[in-house]
Amino acid sequence: MTRFSRRSNAEQVSEGVDLSGKNALVTGANTGLGQETARVLALRGAHVTMACRNRAKAMEAKQEIVDSSVGKISEAQLDFLELDLNSLAAVRTSAEVFKEWQRPLHLLINNAGIMIPMERRTEDGFEAHMGINHLGHFLFTNLLLDSLSAAKGARVVMVSSSAMGMATLTPQLQDLNWESRKFSGFRSYGDSKLMNLMFSNEFNRRYAGEGIFANALHPGVIATELARDQSIPFMLLGVFMLPLMKTVPRGAATSLYAATSPDYEQRGGLFFSDCREKKVLHKLAQDEDACAALWQRSCQMTDFADNRS
Ligand SMILES: NC(=O)c1ccc[n+]([C@@H]2O[C@H](COP(=O)([O-])OP(=O)(O)OC[C@H]3O[C@@H](n4cnc5c(N)ncnc54)[C@H](OP(=O)(O)O)[C@@H]3O)[C@@H](O)[C@H]2O)c1
Repeated sequence: MTRFSRRSNAEQVSEGVDLSGKNALVTGANTGLGQETARVLALRGAHVTMACRNRAKAMEAKQEIVDSSVGKISEAQLDFLELDLNSLAAVRTSAEVFKEWQRPLHLLINNAGIMIPMERRTEDGFEAHMGINHLGHFLFTNLLLDSLSAAKGARVVMVSSSAMGMATLTPQLQDLNWESRKFSGFRSYGDSKLMNLMFSNEFNRRYAGEGIFANALHPGVIATELARDQSIPFMLLGVFMLPLMKTVPRGAATSLYAATSPDYEQRGGLFFSDCREKKVLHKLAQDEDACAALWQRSCQMTDFADNRS
């Protein structure tokens, strides 16, 4: 039974964990939950790759991490990898660069994400929530399989959301790309976060036997830049909700817990919230056929030849 709760922060849940000699990669590590996740993984001794789309922002975030650590985190512990999940070609290039470094990847935290009210398409023509939050991470993770395998006991953490409660995804995966329906920002965001969980479950089913374990989580509700493109009324609602929200260190705690708790070294296919295992929030995530079908469709959409399964 976990001794942690919604009030625990990322440092508390990883206290006593020694990650020296381990390599971690955090997507979207230049701000919000990703930056705090990268900071605390480095504080525990990991070498952390900050995979971000903007080098200047990543460098600023790296400097903040090093400066605020008062000598506990060295510059050499943090690397930058350019990763723009908005483009599948860019994702392929990033994975190639990482593989050239020839590092086993012990911890992959798929954290980057967007939540926008308007309809936008990625460079490859996919609805942006699905394209960036799901397909980009789907392809990136699959392309890093050899690096994950080489770690001999890797963990993949998918930062999903309870917003999956708004998802419109059907077991037949109809109109995934929002071509024949009236667009809804919240519902397409919910779809992408449900896809994160379904991907985590299916990935774990395929690769737990090879020693790569995947879990997904809801971090809580946290005032980050995630809502940067939302309407003024949405922002005002956020201001009223501030007292109920988690701080960023508390928001990153569940990612740290899933990535470092000794209890989950060899366990995957789980969903966490508030630093504890929770019942999965959506029935499609428990539907093995639907998870496998989403995997196949994601292979097609990303043009990924899945030779390993
Ligand atoms: N905050 C919450 O209440 C909450 C609740 C549930 C789930 N989540 C999930 O938590 C995760 C982290 O969100 P956050 O709250 O920390 O939000 P955030 O502060 O907006 O951080 C999001 C990160 O994702 C990056 N990103 C966006 N588009 C990208 C792209 N095309 N390629 C690469 N990186 C990209 C951003 O980079 P730029 O700075 O360059 O844009 C940023 O680093 C997300 O997956 C979100 O869905 C958050």
